[in-house]
Amino acid sequence: MTTPKRALITGITGQDGSYLAEFLLQNGYEVAGMVRRTSGLNLERLGGVLDRIKIVSGDLLDVASLVDVVKNFAPTEVYNLAAQSFVTTSWNQPEFTADVTALGVTRLLDAVRIVNPEVRFYQASSSEMFGKVREVPQNELTPFHPRSPYGVAKVYGHWITVNYRESFDMYACSGILFNHESPRRGLEFVTRKISHQVARIKFGLAKELRLGNLDAKRDWGFAGDYVKAMWLMLNQDRPEDYVIATGETHSVREFCEIAFARAGLNYENHVIVDEQFFRPAEVDLLIGDPKKANDGLGWKTEVSFVELVEMMVDSDIKDCSGRL
Ligand code: NAP
Ligand code: GDD
Repeated sequence: MTTPKRALITGITGQDGSYLAEFLLQNGYEVAGMVRRTSGLNLERLGGVLDRIKIVSGDLLDVASLVDVVKNFAPTEVYNLAAQSFVTTSWNQPEFTADVTALGVTRLLDAVRIVNPEVRFYQASSSEMFGKVREVPQNELTPFHPRSPYGVAKVYGHWITVNYRESFDMYACSGILFNHESPRRGLEFVTRKISHQVARIKFGLAKELRLGNLDAKRDWGFAGDYVKAMWLMLNQDRPEDYVIATGETHSVREFCEIAFARAGLNYENHVIVDEQFFRPAEVDLLIGDPKKANDGLGWKTEVSFVELVEMMVDSDIKDCSGRL
């Protein structure tokens, strides 16, 4: 009988954590999710799997808690998805963002190194690291030029992961994931802000949607597809870093157009551009080249851009009508 694989997921209460937990359970893993102490535990996204995962207590700000978690659960794989992940907040809380999103990675890598350096480690790196892009499309060798304190923190997290791999011979990988969305996306991110408000407008609960830069372009994929790539990265012969993207880019305006049309509405009648949602420095264009992941991991995106937008709008319409 083979020993089951054991995965520890930090950030399990977030969008990606919930999809990754479901995926790993389907693949025979024992799964533990690390949650930090808050006044109200946010387990909403874990409804479908809560009785099959172990919830353990820890915080990326506290290395002792991380050592305990790794020692007690004894994972074979660690997925570090926890972060202060909202770009806008990173200008208001740059130091906190650096502590969690940058130094938190070192703390977790150290916990793994000290307890059992054989454990395989995944770091959630981000296309936000490319920022003011140096080439189009962006691949694993494109230089970084981050445009937010969040992006700067992610660059640190990326390089410390590479450094621990090179210094301590750890199986540590960094997945440079482009934006990925789903009905479980937080309401502060633009895609879900749009789909959620489209549903409210459809049912007469709101009239307008206030947004910032409609011309920003992103390479948007479906989160459910992207968590498979994280697992594939940790199950190769050698640890390497990969760009995960669709290879297509679309503007916020296009997202609005399709989302409103899905609900039988015209975005031009509802969207208002509001200065308060513009950023001090913007990432204008992201488009990834997923060739290395396509060829090396056999990974490909399965949900198209239009399918993604429609999935999100349909889900919010269903939720909204259920609450009327
Ligand atoms: P998310 O929904 O914002 O989830 C973030 C998670 O981190 C939550 O579970 C949060 O827990 C946890 N967390 C925050 N601070 C923590 C701390 N100090 N200690 C322990 N846990 C903490 O993010 P996501 O969209 O799932 O993204 C997952 C990861 O991928 C993040 O690292 C993000 O930066 C990165 N990423 C995301 C995308 C994307 O498009 N989604 C693209 C590239 C990279 P609480 O519930 O307690 O707040
Ligand atoms: N959030 C938000 N709200 N963004 C808006 C708005 C608005 O009202 N109006 C326009 N935008 C534009 C932003 O200026 C940005 O160019 C784009 O929409 C996407 O913003 P977000 O959805 O907040 O995502 P992000 O690209 O900044 O960051 C996400 O993707 C990164 C990967 O590139 C996050 O998930 C990060 O954690 C992730 O690393």
